[in-house]
Amino acid sequence: DWTADSFVETTIAELKEKLGDDQVVLGLSGGVDSSVAAVLLHHAIGKNLHCIFVDNGLLRKDEFQSVLDSYQHMGLNVKGVDAKQRFYDALGGLSDPEKKRKAIGRVFIEVFDDEAHRIENVKWLGQGTIYPDVIESVSVKGPSATIKSHHNVGGLPDFMKLKVVEPLNTLFKDEVRKVGKALEIDPNILGRHPFPGPGLAIRILGEITPEKVAILQEADAIYINNLRSAGVYDQVWQAGAIFLPVQSVGVMGDERTYENVICLRAVESLDGMTADWCHLPYNLLGKISNEIINNVKGINRVVYDISSKPPATIEWE
Ligand code: XMP
Repeated sequence: DWTADSFVETTIAELKEKLGDDQVVLGLSGGVDSSVAAVLLHHAIGKNLHCIFVDNGLLRKDEFQSVLDSYQHMGLNVKGVDAKQRFYDALGGLSDPEKKRKAIGRVFIEVFDDEAHRIENVKWLGQGTIYPDVIESVSVKGPSATIKSHHNVGGLPDFMKLKVVEPLNTLFKDEVRKVGKALEIDPNILGRHPFPGPGLAIRILGEITPEKVAILQEADAIYINNLRSAGVYDQVWQAGAIFLPVQSVGVMGDERTYENVICLRAVESLDGMTADWCHLPYNLLGKISNEIINNVKGINRVVYDISSKPPATIEWE
């Protein structure tokens, strides 16, 4: 009965009816859900949908620009906001994972609120909430469970007083992907691995500095590009590199080095609740390790995480 095409058709008609000539603001994350929600809304109301995509300085290498390009290519009315420094400033001196998450959530809300204020007459907040998010947050009342869970400052930001429109809130993840396909969204966006909201901040153990972010981005890009070129990217549920706050001794030419360690993580999973580590081929791991050590300054050792969830988690923080 349910087909992506009929969902797209009826949802666009419903959104047109509901929103009329109203202005809507929506935060894009680069992930599947917010992208599909945005394209549906765009089909319904066109330029009255104002998308905001924030560069928090914690995305993968070159991801901000390439994702922004593909959003623009899809015709979305999207504004890219460079807020890197605001996030780095807020993260300065923090090493506790929950404090880092809270700081990132707080700055995101500040940046988004600033941008939402620039849009005249905005009436609605668009969100990519999907059905499992709705169930998880049944006890949370309010306009935005997703954003609210990050929200720990006094008083609601103005944009949270907006009416909320969530076109995907009856769908499961696989249905969202089917809808995205029916809407002809870039397969690179639809097929990408899950990526946590706090981004690389929770893949750099301990304190964040822009230098560590740059090192991790390089190592992670080598890792992910190799998974793609070896044809295993789509078999892995989630993968990423982690920057360990550990220095170890190495040797380069005649010199003794004392540098950081990169850990590679790749897991198979259905929903992230449980996960098994992936048995990546040794020759692939060896190639990735060599490329990282030879090309990323500051790294002299690469390790592979062979822990499953539970008892380990997917992320290290
Ligand atoms: P864990 O580490 O708990 O991760 O096994 C399970 C899934 O959740 C993602 N994750 C997050 N996503 N904000 C997010 O948006 C977070 O703070 C966060 N922490 C973990 C993780 O990447 C994995 O997909």
